[in-house]
Amino acid sequence: MPKPSREHFFCSACGHESARWFGRCPACGAWNTAAEAPAATAAKGAKGARAARARWTPASAEAPAGPRPLANVEVSAAPRRPTGLGELDRVLGGGIMPGSLVLVGGDPGIGKSTLLLQLARSVAGAETGAPKVLYVSGEESEEQIRLRASRLGPVPESLLVLCDTDLEAVLEAASAVQPDVLVVDSIQTMARADLEGGPGTVTQVRECALALLHFAKGSRTAVFLVGHVTKDGAVAGPRVLEHMVDAVLYLEGERYQHYRVLRAAKNRFGSTHELGVFEMSEGGLAEVANPSAAFLSGSNRAEPGTAVVASLEGTRPLLVEVQALVSTSFYGTPQRVTSGVDGRRLAVLLAVLERRVGLRLGRHDVFVTVTGGLTLDEPGTDLGVALAIASSFRSRPLLPRTLAVGEVSLSGELRRVPRLDARLREAAQVGFARAGVPAAQAAEGEGAGLEVVPLGTLRQAIETLFGERVTIGTEAAEGAPVVGPAERRA
Ligand code: TYD
Ligand code: MG
Repeated sequence: MPKPSREHFFCSACGHESARWFGRCPACGAWNTAAEAPAATAAKGAKGARAARARWTPASAEAPAGPRPLANVEVSAAPRRPTGLGELDRVLGGGIMPGSLVLVGGDPGIGKSTLLLQLARSVAGAETGAPKVLYVSGEESEEQIRLRASRLGPVPESLLVLCDTDLEAVLEAASAVQPDVLVVDSIQTMARADLEGGPGTVTQVRECALALLHFAKGSRTAVFLVGHVTKDGAVAGPRVLEHMVDAVLYLEGERYQHYRVLRAAKNRFGSTHELGVFEMSEGGLAEVANPSAAFLSGSNRAEPGTAVVASLEGTRPLLVEVQALVSTSFYGTPQRVTSGVDGRRLAVLLAVLERRVGLRLGRHDVFVTVTGGLTLDEPGTDLGVALAIASSFRSRPLLPRTLAVGEVSLSGELRRVPRLDARLREAAQVGFARAGVPAAQAAEGEGAGLEVVPLGTLRQAIETLFGERVTIGTEAAEGAPVVGPAERRA
């Protein structure tokens, strides 16, 4: 006898499931996120669950049921497939993993379709037996895609295109073609006809992604989904989408600047710290061979308020310019405005500058930006940010071609940073002459090809890296004035 069908709801924010409707999700506390699960899922009994599990991987038919020693689980030698774009491979963790489901998010017009079409083009080949790629678009016509592809270069034979928004049709085509890579652009345009609601609704997005997940795991096809992001930067649709996929990549950048940064927010097959840098050009996204040079403003003259930091992004150090502007505040509460630097981190650095160095910043507005639209979230960049602020406060530039590396502690001391040698070598390569580093690890910097200036404290850094012209802190009423060695003797 069939069980009476029960209503079934889930939270569109966190995926919490409930038999009853709820106004506020009991799991994550979000309001008005209850969405009705589709009838097919609601009626799913034990048999349905088993069927769904069977769809996960056809190989499970041979696998014995129940637990077994992990050591006995065979690992298929699935080599990763290079995408032909080194920067993309790096973010994926070394190429495309067969059977993986990857979500590529980003603002409209940032270059998601371009990136995936480039991937499709370079994975597919012209010769027989070359990997097959199926590019499914629910947003553009075949002609549009063809036009875009021609701009990118020759179009290989084994790159197939399908313009459809019906998920069943897409899966049917994919099963017939058996591509090595399937691109679905975008998940918000796909819909299952048997479900209520049009494309883009929470239910549709969730169910379509789930079906594509089953397809990926069952067929060992690598599936790339394009996902649009909402105003607040999350992938539109339920957050369960992010739990479902193996990797979430974000393509970011200022729309009117041509640099694009690709980052992994989640990656089951690699690190989430890696970052790929591209430049949008006539012929699509070009890899940036020397991102450090790209993120420096290019001027050789040191300006007051600027400092260069070496931020460790995954395995690679990136040189980035930090700009600060400190100006007298004429309103009640001084403003602290940042872009690319965490506001709370800035507050800590300002407090250290005030109390340990004696810079009276309390009545000043402080603005800090990072060039290239990058975000610094690594403590090794503290010293550079603090120096940029000090430099603007005193209207004095830092020594030219000088890098600043170090984490600033609350006591004003400089702490060690990981992989100092790599950061210094990167700086030497783009022509830096010296680097201020934490004294404790100055020895590690030898052989990097630039002058290493060991620094014990932030105060010492300000005394040393501004050169002799600086008379810092003479106005400071509290604490000892910070002066250059020459002035102190006088
Ligand atoms: P697109 O990939 O369509 O963005 P998304 O899929 O994320 O919405 O990229 C759109 C922008 O990229 C568009 O403004 C044109 C630009 N573009 C180039 O500058 N060069 C190119 O070769 C291509 C294909 C696009
Ligand atoms: Mg697009």
